[in-house]
Amino acid sequence: MTERTIGVTELALRDAHQSLMATRMATEDMVGACAAIDRAGYWSAECWGGATFDSCIRFLNEDPWERLRTFKKLLPNTRTQMLLRGQNLLGYRHYADDVVDRFVEKAAINGMDVFRVFDALNDPRNLERAIKAVQKSGKHAQGTICYTISPVHDIDNYVRLARQLRDMGVDSIALKDMAALLKPQPAADIVAAIKQEMPDMTVAVHCHSTTGVTLVSLWRAVESGADLIDTAISSMSLGPGHNPTESFQEVLEGTGYKADLDKEALHEIRDHFAEVRPRYAKFESKFTVDTDIFESQIPGGMLSNLESQLVAQGAGDKVVEVLKEVPKVRAASGYPPLVTPTSQIVGTQAVFNVLMGEWKTMTGEFADMVLGYYGKTEGETDPMVIEKAAKQTGKEKIDVRPADLIPNEWDNLRAEAEKLEGFDGTDEDVLTYALFPTVAPVFFKNRKNGPQNVSQSVEELEAERLLAAGDSGSGTVRIPITYDVTIGDKTHTVSVKPAEK
Ligand code: CO
Repeated sequence: MTERTIGVTELALRDAHQSLMATRMATEDMVGACAAIDRAGYWSAECWGGATFDSCIRFLNEDPWERLRTFKKLLPNTRTQMLLRGQNLLGYRHYADDVVDRFVEKAAINGMDVFRVFDALNDPRNLERAIKAVQKSGKHAQGTICYTISPVHDIDNYVRLARQLRDMGVDSIALKDMAALLKPQPAADIVAAIKQEMPDMTVAVHCHSTTGVTLVSLWRAVESGADLIDTAISSMSLGPGHNPTESFQEVLEGTGYKADLDKEALHEIRDHFAEVRPRYAKFESKFTVDTDIFESQIPGGMLSNLESQLVAQGAGDKVVEVLKEVPKVRAASGYPPLVTPTSQIVGTQAVFNVLMGEWKTMTGEFADMVLGYYGKTEGETDPMVIEKAAKQTGKEKIDVRPADLIPNEWDNLRAEAEKLEGFDGTDEDVLTYALFPTVAPVFFKNRKNGPQNVSQSVEELEAERLLAAGDSGSGTVRIPITYDVTIGDKTHTVSVKPAEK
């Protein structure tokens, strides 16, 4: 019997440290594993995008473009892969199409091979431009379906999304389960349904391990026809991270499928990260398996943040109420998947509803979301909520693609960047500035000092996070979000941080 080979994407260089240690791993702690990663036989190595770009300039004083070039050089035989937030790129707002085009072009030139493109609302209009740009650059465009659970999300719905992605001409489709909600049976059903309709489409499955059930889900996905599976080397796995690469390979033994990875190379990668991981211990959360999320639908990161914020503000008795409010807010806004930035937007609105009365005050972000400025949700938005949002903000509900309202902005961004001390004149630097307009100027100025060894206490880390919360840039998408809520004479600070993995 010939065994069918399943391609494996190694997550150690991006999502694993984003999920386990607040995206803090420095390039110098990853380069030592690259030779082994390159000869292990992975289909790809995810190594860029997501929160790494932000982390590089905000915390590590590293040039993210240099990091990409380094990985490309050290991984000559392995596809490099990144996570891209559609029209938001790696920033926190929608960008004009000319910026999207330039970003993708530059990422491709600097060494990116596979672009996994997703949108928090699963609105295909927010993916289309980035996917076109990837195709234009001759690289691999992977369209993404964010998995969530709600009364309006069923298999037909996911297949319809897959069809829309196929019609855009994507090279593959990823089913992305950022909250470890994807149980084995739905994993099998969704992959089988997509494969039935488009047998030649390459299907990738990305799961976190938070709930403890997803190694089985990966297996069921393989059995149902999935071609590519995401895992992380064992010493960088489990908890809020991902299933271990070595375990996945062993699971396949004798099944007619194989991962075909070089075990000796895997050992080397494992040992490397086992050695460097303790350096980042202060960024790791104490974590046990969490299955409550199946009931609450609230991602772990979002939950602990809501709780600690409410407790810190003397409103700890409101936690249960807020948790009950979250599903209501989600229903009223058309069941967005809870991923950055929608998890923060929904969570913060739930806090507002509990502290100030239902729909008495809306956050600007929540109002924008229900008015269509992030795109369209799968479910219907409550008309009463739309009306209140319009009244409060003076904005109209829109039905067009949000970026259609943004005029080309490249020339302006370049002109602004050119005024900055330390700006090096490249398009890459303009993009860094475009993505993080508050942090980039500081980074440009300090860049010559080289990578910093970030050594912080938990208090310093929290202070930094609050500072980061103030850096919302311009436009509609903002994370993390911090609000001051005054009730009587007491001011509560409510901050909701990213839960996206
Ligand atoms: Co992830």
